[in-house]
Amino acid sequence: MQEIGRLKQELKRLNQEYKKISSLKPEDRSKFGRTLNAKKIEILQRIKDEQLKLIDNKVEELDITAPCAPNAEMPQLLTADHGSRHPLMTELDRVIKIYQSMGFHIVESRQLDDEFHMFDTLNFPLEHPARDDYDTFRTEEKGADSRGFIPPAHTSTMQHRVLKFFKKELDEGREIAVAVPGRVFRNEDVDATHEHTFYQCEGVYVSEDCSLSNMLAILKDFFVKYYEQPINVRTQPGYFPFTEPSLEFMIEKPESIAGKKGEWLEMLGCGMIHPNVLKMAGIDPEKYHGFAWGGGIDRLVMLKHNIKDVRYFESGKLEFLKEFK
Ligand code: DAH
Repeated sequence: MQEIGRLKQELKRLNQEYKKISSLKPEDRSKFGRTLNAKKIEILQRIKDEQLKLIDNKVEELDITAPCAPNAEMPQLLTADHGSRHPLMTELDRVIKIYQSMGFHIVESRQLDDEFHMFDTLNFPLEHPARDDYDTFRTEEKGADSRGFIPPAHTSTMQHRVLKFFKKELDEGREIAVAVPGRVFRNEDVDATHEHTFYQCEGVYVSEDCSLSNMLAILKDFFVKYYEQPINVRTQPGYFPFTEPSLEFMIEKPESIAGKKGEWLEMLGCGMIHPNVLKMAGIDPEKYHGFAWGGGIDRLVMLKHNIKDVRYFESGKLEFLKEFK
């Protein structure tokens, strides 16, 4: 830019020189004129070169990642390297479709919630150690209850809202059947099997006459549909304040994926909804029963695609993402 300014000054001075022509002897005029013209052409050419250099630099500055060749003489037909869907989103869609095919409503969970939905409505007694597992981050900003907001540690924070909103289904003689996919957050020591951010899907079912065996049938059916092959399942006792009894639900790694049978994986927590949780949502636990479950989507997908490290999902690594194009 500075060089262009300097050349323009030079051009200005040169233009002044032309005025001298009239004071010269007629026989000297044409030689003087030709010398000035040659100088003028040279300066103009140098200004043009400098301007082109500037434009070139600018294009590079603006366009280093453009999937085309902006400076090529002929425009080239290049295929832009478009992105692709994240594998978790693709699989989450499949999960949602399976639950929809079973007649479940789908409600998305929130990424910021409050103490009331995180603990109070889920029957966590005050000061109970079970809170520690879910006590994660908190915003400095306080809500109406003068407590901070919480990025939820599980999709169960949606249970109370779902029960209250869909209670009208019970009043009209139907059942409540809702699946709640969403993103959750934990204060974890991150390693190959633990992430601070991951996805879960919650299931909530309430009717007059449902039982644990209905829940086990639904869950088994879900895994058979998701992995498209027969799946062995089993449960072991668990503890969650919002269910009674509480279970951990496991599946045997399918042979086609694991290569050998006999390895069991815990896929979700579940149980019969605690009467206090129903009561808080205005549902009579004497008349209605419910079951609920919640499990990680990441784990489901890792098993399906044989992904060994959960951290890949949030890493944004292109080599990983391109495998799912
Ligand atoms: N929210 C629990 C967790 O993330 C899992 C869970 C257990 C969900 C029991 C439920 C349930 O709905 O009934 O650890």
